[in-house]
Amino acid sequence: MYCDKKPYVSGYRSALDAIATYEPMIRSAIDAKMSNGDSSVTNNIGVDLYVDKCFIYLNEPSETTLDLDFKNQIERILTTLLYPEWVVKHRSGLNLVARTGDGVGSANARALKFDLHWRLYDRLVLRSLGSTTTLAYNDQTNSWEIPLMTDYNWNPITSPHVAVSGLTGSGKTMQLIILNSYAKNWADQIWIEDPRKAAPEKTKNPNLIIIDPKGDSKMREYCVNHGFGSVEYLAPDLTQNQAAFLARANEALKRVVEVMNYRYSIKSKYSNVKFRHLFVTVDEMRALLEGGNKKAIDAFFELIDLITLKGRAAGIHLICGSQSFLAGKSDGCISTPARDNLTLRILLSPTITAENARFLFKEIDKNQAESLIIDTDGYDCAGVGIISNTDRVIVPYKVPFLGSVK
Ligand SMILES: Nc1ncnc2c1ncn2[C@@H]1O[C@H](COP(=O)(O)OP(=O)(O)O)[C@@H](O)[C@H]1O
Ligand SMILES: [Mg+2]
Repeated sequence: MYCDKKPYVSGYRSALDAIATYEPMIRSAIDAKMSNGDSSVTNNIGVDLYVDKCFIYLNEPSETTLDLDFKNQIERILTTLLYPEWVVKHRSGLNLVARTGDGVGSANARALKFDLHWRLYDRLVLRSLGSTTTLAYNDQTNSWEIPLMTDYNWNPITSPHVAVSGLTGSGKTMQLIILNSYAKNWADQIWIEDPRKAAPEKTKNPNLIIIDPKGDSKMREYCVNHGFGSVEYLAPDLTQNQAAFLARANEALKRVVEVMNYRYSIKSKYSNVKFRHLFVTVDEMRALLEGGNKKAIDAFFELIDLITLKGRAAGIHLICGSQSFLAGKSDGCISTPARDNLTLRILLSPTITAENARFLFKEIDKNQAESLIIDTDGYDCAGVGIISNTDRVIVPYKVPFLGSVK
């Protein structure tokens, strides 16, 4: 029986079996959809499908031009056709590669390359935050990473800062809790395994600082259950107005910048020492600035700029959640360079449009937005959307389901 809570199970025993069926199907689908005289029958268009990529090439002279319009058209066809056996990884621009081998000449020496992921990325299901101690080991880079979906990991060393965007109720705070819990465990693991000597620190630093302008009950519960003195949690108390809370947040960020500057000074003296990774989480970044005066907002922008521009080398990471990532001080919450440094980007929304993707995923045009498939499953309450990492390749995303914030 069909159960949408279970991951999709493919009927193909191997990728080779699927390729044997899908490659001719792609050919005929393209043939049927080309409005000019080109087709694979006239040998103008060629298709090579592999387990992790698909090449589409033209045999010149053809009526079709190998340009962005053609790429978008093929991307749209592939995205729906290959679902649910493959996921097409969306990349902006024309990804042209050289072809080699028998039968390759000047007429067909180039191909459009589409990167694929064999099978869907499945949602992780965590009973409780205890499960976030299980990290993923990357054999290729010999490093521990944070699993976000099956086959999709986050490495805070290569991708230091995170943005989570989405409307209210889309699952941002839950995503931040999950990221925080993983990040803390990840930092412990890295610390234990790194054979280098610990660098001296001027102050005793928390491992995680959470700035939560809404005082979310689940975020608070996470800090109570998992803080153990290593998490600094900042939420407004009832007597405090917005401006006072922003001042407290700025103070905490200023301390982080001081730690960062001190670590830089240590690094210049001793190059081979390790620092404990420190994560700073700001939820509802736009809401935090509401009601703040110009001076406080200026200071906040400057501190966030410093952390995102210089944090990586000092093991300092920023994780931010906001309903909008509009840049600029009047209605926005971040500067453009700082936003560009948020390399792990997550947009939580069951439908992606050029409109809601315009701040974090400005490279997505209307065409691409319409061709993205956000495959949903039975976990309706948990977030879905799109994600991209340092490679800026966009794929559908499902936030891990969290049973309880215990
Ligand atoms: N990953 C998840 N796992 C389980 N429940 C979730 C998840 N994401 C969201 N939810 C449910 O949806 C509610 C709203 O999510 P929340 O993270 O507070 O949204 P936002 O912060 O975007 O307003 C949560 O209180 C929770 O009940
Ligand atoms: Mg929230």
